[in-house]
Amino acid sequence: MNNFLSTKNIPVRERLIFAMDLPSVAAAEEMIDRLGDSVLFYKLGLQMFMTGGYFQLVEKLQKLGKKIFVDLKFFDVPETVKNAVEQLQSRGVTFATVHGNDDIMRAAAAAKGSTKILAVTVLTSLDKGDMEDLGFKCDVAELVLSRARRALALGCDGVISSGLEARKLREGVDDKLIVITPGIRPASNTAVKDDQKRVVTVQDAFINGADYIVVGRPIRAAADPKAAAEEIQRQIAEVFKQ
Ligand code: C5P
Repeated sequence: MNNFLSTKNIPVRERLIFAMDLPSVAAAEEMIDRLGDSVLFYKLGLQMFMTGGYFQLVEKLQKLGKKIFVDLKFFDVPETVKNAVEQLQSRGVTFATVHGNDDIMRAAAAAKGSTKILAVTVLTSLDKGDMEDLGFKCDVAELVLSRARRALALGCDGVISSGLEARKLREGVDDKLIVITPGIRPASNTAVKDDQKRVVTVQDAFINGADYIVVGRPIRAAADPKAAAEEIQRQIAEVFKQ
C-alpha cells in the first residue's frame, strides 16, 4: 500500500494541533500553561468563541509564539465571509475554516492575506441519508473529492478530512492541498471513550497523507496533558524520522 507521508516543509512539532475546546478563558489559560512547549499550534473553535474572550486568547497565544487555527467555519453570503476573513488579516492567524459554495470559497480566498483558508467539504457527521435529506443525490466520497479540488482551484489552501478519507484525497487531488485530520486516538490512550467513530492512530493519519493532526480529548482528558502531548509528539517524530 502506498505511503502518503507529507513532504511539505512543516516543522515536525507543528504537525500536532491541539483542539482547545474548553468552557472558559481561565480554563484555556491554565491549559496553555500546563502544556508549555509540548504544543506549538492551537485550534480555537466555537466554544472558545462563545466565552467572549476569544481574541484575548489569540493575543496571548501570539505573544507566546504559538500558531493559531481559527475554526469558526464562516458561512454566509460571499461579501460577509470576505469581510470576516479580512478582519483576521491583522491577527497573524495561520489557518481559518470556511464552509459553503464556490462563491463563498472564492470570496474567502480573495481576502485571506497570509492566512491559509481551509474548506469544509462534507461534515463528517453527515452520512448518505443526511445528504439525501439535504437534496444531494450523489456519492459522499466523490463529493468530498470534487469539493476539495474546487477549493484548491478557487484559491483555498486545504481541507479538514477524516483519516480514512485523507488517502483518497492524496490519490485524487494535487499534492499542494493541505490535509488536516481530526478524530485521532493514540493507540496507547485509554482516557477517552467518546463520540468519534471514524478514528485513526497518529501513525495511520500521517501514513494516509495528513499534513497535520488535530487532537483534543486524548490530551485534554489525560491525567497529565503535557505528558500525553509529548507522547503524541514522540509518535509524530517517529513517523517522520526516516
Ligand atoms: O476531542 P477530539 O480529539 O475528538 O477533538 C477533535 C476536534 O476536531 C474538535 O475540536 C472537533 O470540533 C474537530 N473536528 C472533528 N471532526 C471534524 C471536524 C472537526 O472532530 N470532521
